[in-house]
Formats: sequence, C-alpha cells, structure tokens
Amino acid sequence: MAEQFDVAVIGAGAAGMMAAAVAGQRGRRVVLIDHAAHLAEKVRISGGGRCNFTNLGAGPANYLSDNPHFCRSALSRYTPRDFLDLIERHGVRWHEKHKGQLFCDDSAQDIIDVLVAECAAGNVAWRRPCAVAEITREGEGFLLATDAGLIRAGALVIATGGLSIPKIGATDLGYRIARQFDLPLVPTRPALVPLTFTAEEWAPFAELSGVSLEVDVAFGEGKARPRFREDLLFTHRGLSGPAILQISSFWQPGRSIELDLAPGTDVAEALVSGKAGNRQQVQNALAQWLPRRLAERWAEAAGLSGRPLADCADKALRALGQQLNAWQIKPAGSEGYRKAEVTAGGVDTRALDQKTMMAKAVPGLYFVGEVMDVTGWLGGYNFQWAWASGYAAGVTV
Ligand code: FDA
Repeated sequence: MAEQFDVAVIGAGAAGMMAAAVAGQRGRRVVLIDHAAHLAEKVRISGGGRCNFTNLGAGPANYLSDNPHFCRSALSRYTPRDFLDLIERHGVRWHEKHKGQLFCDDSAQDIIDVLVAECAAGNVAWRRPCAVAEITREGEGFLLATDAGLIRAGALVIATGGLSIPKIGATDLGYRIARQFDLPLVPTRPALVPLTFTAEEWAPFAELSGVSLEVDVAFGEGKARPRFREDLLFTHRGLSGPAILQISSFWQPGRSIELDLAPGTDVAEALVSGKAGNRQQVQNALAQWLPRRLAERWAEAAGLSGRPLADCADKALRALGQQLNAWQIKPAGSEGYRKAEVTAGGVDTRALDQKTMMAKAVPGLYFVGEVMDVTGWLGGYNFQWAWASGYAAGVTV
C-alpha cells in the first residue's frame, strides 16, 4: 500500500524545506524526503558557519543562466526583506557584513531551526534518511519507490541541489529525473571555485601561498564584461579568495582571466614619473601597493630586484607596471566539485514556468533551487534563489 500525499519534495536543503513549509502551511499534505544522515549540511557549513543567507541587493543581474530573465519573477515575489521578516519572527539575530551580505550573528543552525519550525507549522512529514529508487508517472501524479516504502503524490518538487561537495550528500538525482521526463539540461560545471595552474606554471608563485590582497578581476572583453573588486588569495596550487570564486563562474577553460593587482593606481606611470634620482629599490617601491612577499617576487621575476628605480629603464618599469595592472593568467582548471560552492548549469529553465517552477511539459513536476540553471554570484545570492524559487513552487503546488 502506498502512502498518499498531495506533495512530495525530494531534497531537504534550503529550497526543499522552503517549498515544503510554504505548501504545508497552505494546508497541503506534504512529505519531505532526503537521503543524507545530517539535515541541511550545506546551510550548516555555509558562510563559514554563519550562513550568508541573503543579499539585500539580490536581483536578476546577480545570476548566471542561459535564460537570464527567468529568475526575475520569483525574485520579485520573494525578496530578501521577506526572508528577513521570516527569520526575525523567529528571533534570529543577524548583521550585514559588507556589500549587502547578511549573516547570522550566532550560527547557521539558526536558519536550519527556522526552516524546521516552519515545516512543523505546515505539518510536513519527514522521511529521512531515505533514498528514492524509482519514480513513475501515475496518471496526473507520481509514484515514488523509496527506502520508506511507496509514496504516491499529486505533485513532485525536485530540490536535490547541485553536484558540489559530494561527501555531504550531493548527487545527480535531479538531473536524472529531468532526463527521465525528457527535460533539457544545460551542461553543468563547478562554479564559485578556486582556479588551478600546472605545477610548472605555478612554480614561481607557489611560495606566495597565504598572501592575500584586494584586486580587480575580470573575464572576457568589452565594457560589459564581468568585473569584481574583491580579495585574492594565493594558494599552493593556484588562486582562490572571493575575487577568484566570483570570476570562476564566468571563466571558460582555455582562456585567461585578468587581474589588476593594484586597483586604482597606474603603477607604470607612478614608477616612471617618480624614478628621477630615486634610489629606492624596485621591490620596495612595489611594496607601496602590494604585500611585501608579492612585491619581492614580482620584482625578481622582472629581473629588477635590488635595482634602484633611477637605474631602471623607463621601458622596463612601464612593462612591470602594466603587467601589475593587467596580469593575464590562464588557469589550467579548477578545484572541481570537491571544492566548488555551487554548480552552474542544470535543468534548463526554458522548460519551466517562471512563476511556478513547474515543468511546462510535465504538469505537477517542479524544480527549485540549485538543481536549475540559475547560479548566483558569491554573497548570499544562491540562498536567496533557494528561498525565492522554493516559495514560488510552495505557493503553487
Ligand atoms: P542543497 O544542496 O541545500 O540541498 C539539496 C538536498 O538534497 C540535500 O539535503 C541533499 O542531501 C539532498 N539530496 C541530494 N541528492 C539526493 C538524493 N539522491 N536523494 C535524496 N536527497 C538528495 N550560498 C549562499 O547564498 N551563501 C553562502 O554563505 C553560501 N556558502 C556556501 C558554502 C559552501 C561550502 C557551499 C558548498 C555552498 C555555499 N553556498 C552559499 C551555496 C548554497 O549552499 C547552495 O546554493 C544552496 O544550499 C542550494 O540550496 P538547494 O536547496 O537547492 O540545495
């Protein structure tokens, strides 16, 4: 005998709990299924344990997708203010870090507790840990074969997230379900991820591991190209830090990224115009704008270490400065899903309804959160998408 529900939600992460809670509070009989031993691990580890749960400025421009306008409707109907109202009702204390990024004062667990309480208020039934072996279409509804037996539901919400961090429960189930129902997928790739270089190419920089500085980072050409001013971190294998995570979502293999290591300063101009009679050594001059270890490495690589500015040719100083302001560097790859914060690509949103998140060709089947081809920048945007898309489905199913 199958258990009967109005709505089955697969994936009890950010988007799935939001969808289940909202649907349950509308009086729908909801079951929420997740295979992981621990609840909402990604929420728990997010934002360094404090969960950067939204961004006050979240709008369509902060998301990557092959269908860039898709996210507009859901984002406008469930805003960062709506989520703040929700967590404030539960007494969660929060603060703005910078650039509109909101974090919990205490712990990411506060956000999980809010979502669990909201599910309880909607009488959501839990099946956890519980794997789903098979899904079949039954008339207008769905039959799920699970570890907890057969479950029959009129509507099915897929909230299984992306492929990042497999060791805490990420799987490709959502994509397999999309394929089963002939829905198109945008190829997936790790995003918000550190970039790596070949050992040979990185050898001169490996010793800089741990050095960090604020940079401008860009990818591609033209005025409209993505550009971010954020911190950069040198690592043993390559580059990381918010600047690199941001640009990694746009980066394409085989192409370079561009770094301005001294944003706001024309280093070539400053070095050349200040060199007359100046006995300051090149690495010390560079240390005005760069961390000392980086300044030393940079002067050494240019063959100018230990040389007084006054003794350097204008051409050599210009080349040095220009390279600092527009360092073109071609990553060999990324740290992959093991380290990526999110997965770009996913269920093609052209096959979904932008108001409800329902598959246009499969009435009753919904996709919410990161499993879809909507990928936020770093800074709370991905959770805002989870809340907004989960809400859109929750008020409809
Ligand atoms: P999510 O991944 O949260 O949930 C998916 C659920 O589905 C999981 O519970 C999983 O167990 C379950 N599932 C998967 N396969 C299944 C299967 N086969 N059967 C049953 N259940 C299955 N974003 C942000 O906005 N601010 C931040 O501070 C951070 N920080 C951050 C840090 C780190 C280290 C990572 C890895 C990610 C972030 N993110 C983030 C991104 C954010 O965590 C992510 O975008 C959301 O959690 C996505 O929410 P979803 O509900 O779509 O998936």
